[in-house]
Amino acid sequence: MRLRRSAAGVAAVAVIVAVGVTACGVSTTSVTEPEFTNELAIPPLADSTVEGGVRTFDLAAQRGSTDFAGQDGPTETWGFNGAFLGPTLRAQRGEKIAVDVENDLTEPTSVHWHGMHLPSKMDGGPHQMIDPGQTWKPHWTIDQPAATLWYHPHPHGQTEDHVYKGLAGMVILDDDASQSADLPYEYGVDDLPLIVQDRTFSDGQLELTHDGAEPGMLGDTVMVNGTIGAVQEVTAEKVRLRLLNGSTARTYAFEFPDRTMDLIAGDGGFLDEPVEIDRLRLAPGERAEVVVDFAPGETVRMRSAEVDLGGVAVPATMGGHDSFDVLEFRAAEILTPAPEPAWSRSSHAEEDGLDEAEAATIRKFELEEREINGERMDMSRIDEVVHVGDTEVWVVRSKQPIPHSFHVHDVQFDVLSVDGEPPPVEMSGRKDTIYLEPNRDYRLLMRFEDYTDPHLPYMYHCHMLLHEDEGMMGQFVVIDPGQEGDVGMPAGHEGVGHEH
Ligand code: C2O
Ligand code: CU
Ligand code: CU
Repeated sequence: MRLRRSAAGVAAVAVIVAVGVTACGVSTTSVTEPEFTNELAIPPLADSTVEGGVRTFDLAAQRGSTDFAGQDGPTETWGFNGAFLGPTLRAQRGEKIAVDVENDLTEPTSVHWHGMHLPSKMDGGPHQMIDPGQTWKPHWTIDQPAATLWYHPHPHGQTEDHVYKGLAGMVILDDDASQSADLPYEYGVDDLPLIVQDRTFSDGQLELTHDGAEPGMLGDTVMVNGTIGAVQEVTAEKVRLRLLNGSTARTYAFEFPDRTMDLIAGDGGFLDEPVEIDRLRLAPGERAEVVVDFAPGETVRMRSAEVDLGGVAVPATMGGHDSFDVLEFRAAEILTPAPEPAWSRSSHAEEDGLDEAEAATIRKFELEEREINGERMDMSRIDEVVHVGDTEVWVVRSKQPIPHSFHVHDVQFDVLSVDGEPPPVEMSGRKDTIYLEPNRDYRLLMRFEDYTDPHLPYMYHCHMLLHEDEGMMGQFVVIDPGQEGDVGMPAGHEGVGHEH
């Protein structure tokens, strides 16, 4: 391992993530190693127009065809404003934004802003379907810290299919803290969006099969931003990687063979300070930002190692024994110098803080057999009713030895503890999605600040998309206390009842 310089005045805490050794020492990989010869595609930054103080983006979900390296293409794919994946939306805290989302497919879909704090009407979940030929125009004010979020369809029962075909994109939010930070910041140069996904091809076409595998689809071909065998040129000493696990089922363990990474942000934004890690476990739906050092002239690959799935019964069937290279970096002979990663608190830090002492309610969520608390998703049933302004603790537990990835819409939460112990470093920042090791209690602290709607729910669910599609999802509404008895039928949907 290379020695790290530690700059004076930078609070870089050296905490190394301990990685468990899998009981079975044999590494079986079902992932094909491609030739690393293809320039990494960088999703373009989405154009926008500003009018009347509102920044408007245009997205069109459409069919297309893509030539993937080494496949017998062209491959039929779906994308936003293109054939595969979508542009990166970038906006700033405090900005009013709107998105004109057009559905040019031949079937209904929706677009959900994963990780975004916004009214449920704008959330893009299964209650905001867009019919073919229609345009949906959500709008909201960006009111959360700088972070890496993403967008993807959320049609009930078909999310895996739509994401798998290529509908997904990244969202980057900026704020005063991110813009004044000592961090790589040039999009596509030293600040790289990395959407990591796995696919399986059959006769050149995307194949979505489950083969009875518990987590769902584990593809044998890994791509980054749609590029198989991707190579990225490095021109700076430090590069920021915005990692998004956009896979439908696979959990990765990203690492470099010979160096650590500085973890700087989780799903919801910056950690308190950079944390040095060897390896990063990332479950479907999760994001993390890391900063990596490069030396002039070197070539090095980021890989995904055998992942410690934590108490999963048969890790091999969950991809736990797969290890493979993901992305090759080739550093130029002369690299732009970069300071040690550092940032100061956001001017909103105070108001963003969460306090466990204020928790008004504790809710329990048990995941088992594609059900949460014994129920499968029912679009016409409200599962939880939350009072606006309340801070709550959600205790989440997976009751079977298979992997799950738990996601809550609308909020970013703190992980208070895992089985009573402090959470691992990768959960130390604000999160909206976490990998659940089986049979452990994850205590999550969250606050439902605003945006009441007694009729239109937000979702919480497993982000392994097969599990989600098969019903491992529930719905909550955020209401004014006076509205409690009023949870009724959303327009256009029948039979919404309430239980609390
Ligand atoms: Cu990324 Cu409910 O979704
Ligand atoms: Cu979401
Ligand atoms: Cu699951």
